[in-house]
Amino acid sequence: MLILVTGGTGYIGSHICVEMLNEGHSVIIVDNLANSDRAVVDRIEQITGKRPLFYEADVTDAKYMDLIFSTHYIDGVIHLAGLKAVGESVEKPLLYYQNNVLGTIVLAEQCLKHGVGKFVFSSSATVYGDNPSPLIETMELRSAANPYGQTKAMSEQILKDAANVNPEFAVALLRYFNPVGAHPSGLIGEAPRGIPNNLMPYITQVARGKLAELKVFGGDYPTPDGTGVRDYLHVVDLAKGHLAALEKLNPGVEVYNLGTGRGTSVLELVHAFAEATGIKIPYSIGPRRPGDLAVVYADPAKAKAELDWEAQYGIVDMCRDAWNFEKNFS
Ligand code: NAD
Ligand code: UFG
Repeated sequence: MLILVTGGTGYIGSHICVEMLNEGHSVIIVDNLANSDRAVVDRIEQITGKRPLFYEADVTDAKYMDLIFSTHYIDGVIHLAGLKAVGESVEKPLLYYQNNVLGTIVLAEQCLKHGVGKFVFSSSATVYGDNPSPLIETMELRSAANPYGQTKAMSEQILKDAANVNPEFAVALLRYFNPVGAHPSGLIGEAPRGIPNNLMPYITQVARGKLAELKVFGGDYPTPDGTGVRDYLHVVDLAKGHLAALEKLNPGVEVYNLGTGRGTSVLELVHAFAEATGIKIPYSIGPRRPGDLAVVYADPAKAKAELDWEAQYGIVDMCRDAWNFEKNFS
């Protein structure tokens, strides 16, 4: 298949490109490099021995997208291009709605116009809002706590509505839990600009000596050690989930959680990092971060039953590979 991967030079997208190319598919990347580097295309080639086609373009640019869809016979789209900083989305809601929601509309329109039947969308566990874990695909969604989360819920709805009236349109809405880690080669991984918002890149930067200590956001949650619990998932497992979803796509809309089903606390992750790397992360426990939930983890049974997909890596692997990338590329 020829797959268009939007956001393909980004953290998750680059790992998806590697898995797609390794499985013998061809890949076109569209990315405006808002949060990534064109050198990632070279690294994808270094890992796979195959070079994806790369367009530096904005997915909200309907004319440019039309040109790309007219030039290539695309079999499917994996749509990851989007802005993802929760805090920034509160400061700049219109930017987030413009970029993330319009991007989804433009790509869906192009698919329908050019007869591209397969569409895989990067959604997020954030659409479950404060539903209790384990989170199951059949749960009614609760309002996401910020504009970023709203853009995911809106994009899901837009794709469902489009599929309802276009019987050939096959859509998979993939709700990611917490992707971490990096490709075992150490050539691609998460390279946030500025101070990281997320736990694992923060930990690796403390380990590197770029940041002094980890601030643990809250030690009084109703969890075994008082710190927040999340479902961390190796990014290579996540990437493989896209391949599985694409291969099993049927007309209509299916929603899948991509998570491990296991919850890990902030302190457990800090200890796993020490086990994987021998590096003890200095930390202090501070106040909770506004908007954070105590416990978030997936029920991954549907993806296992229907996609034959299940996460393989554990948290020590995730820490090892995240550190391996940080050492190589910072
Ligand atoms: P990322 O920022 O590394 O990758 C996103 C890529 O999209 C970047 O390369 C960026 O330059 C590009 N981009 C942004 N807006 C664009 C536009 N209008 N046109 C073209 N390219 C554009 O982020 P990521 O972690 O790889 O996330 C990928 C997707 O997965 C995002 O949609 C994100 O919301 C979603 N997601 C991520 C997580 C996570 O924890 N990383 C969790 C759930 C969902
Ligand atoms: N945490 C800290 N210190 C930090 C960073 C995070 O203690 O410096 C804690 C958080 O409080 C939370 C856990 O580590 O308990 C994980 O935090 P992340 O920011 O890494 O991840 P979140 O679960 O908060 O958010 C992620 C994505 C969002 C997405 C959400 C959906 O980053 O984009 O999952 O569940 F919306």
